[in-house]
Amino acid sequence: DGEKPLKGRNAIVTSGPTHEPIDPVRYIANRSSGRQGHAIAAALAKLGAEVTLVSGPVAIADPVGVHTVHVERAEEMRDAVLAALPADIAVMVAAVADWRVASAADQKLKKHPGESIPTLALTENPDILKTVGHHTMRPKLVIGFAAETQDVESNAKAKLERKGADLIVANDVSPATGIMGGSRNSVKLIRHDSVEQWPDLTKEEVAERLAALVAKGFHA
Ligand code: C5P
Repeated sequence: DGEKPLKGRNAIVTSGPTHEPIDPVRYIANRSSGRQGHAIAAALAKLGAEVTLVSGPVAIADPVGVHTVHVERAEEMRDAVLAALPADIAVMVAAVADWRVASAADQKLKKHPGESIPTLALTENPDILKTVGHHTMRPKLVIGFAAETQDVESNAKAKLERKGADLIVANDVSPATGIMGGSRNSVKLIRHDSVEQWPDLTKEEVAERLAALVAKGFHA
């Protein structure tokens, strides 16, 4: 089908940040608007894929034509992603918090004048991309993102290996680039045997190009 080259294919996309509770009213999180991940979910659906979007807390609408699962924490995101397997395609765009608070408080932490300030003990979160990249039900195509502020290419190459991905979409999110939370993106595609710089594009254009590339991968 020329119009719907991904018809009959299942895709899982993660998007947005995760929120890791400190207590019932506080959390730690990464910065992520969800704009790029949501655009990718929409672009894959437009090409005919059946898309499960697992989204952390974001301020943007669920894409039309996509099955969106809302989660808060990394462990919930991992569970929702694994529940959506098997799939043909996985695109992990979420900015997952690397750490969570080891034992989040059941009650709001109170300020007591004169008493010491609490310290947070952290523990490591599951790496969802790495789990999917090495899973017995590994999708045929596993794509990761890498937001870096320095050594973009070498960091992304290392990530490709470590996470068992086929492709890493790397971008420089240094504050001066305006990419974080903005509408445009400038990415590098890192594969095992090549590096390709894409021009400055809108996040929707990056999504459409990426979806077209995925479709090509399922055509051959
Ligand atoms: O290691 P780093 O967080 O830089 O890797 C980024 C890639 O890994 C992204 O695709 C992100 O969605 C994914 N990731 C994940 N689970 C984590 C950390 C990152 O899926 N706990």
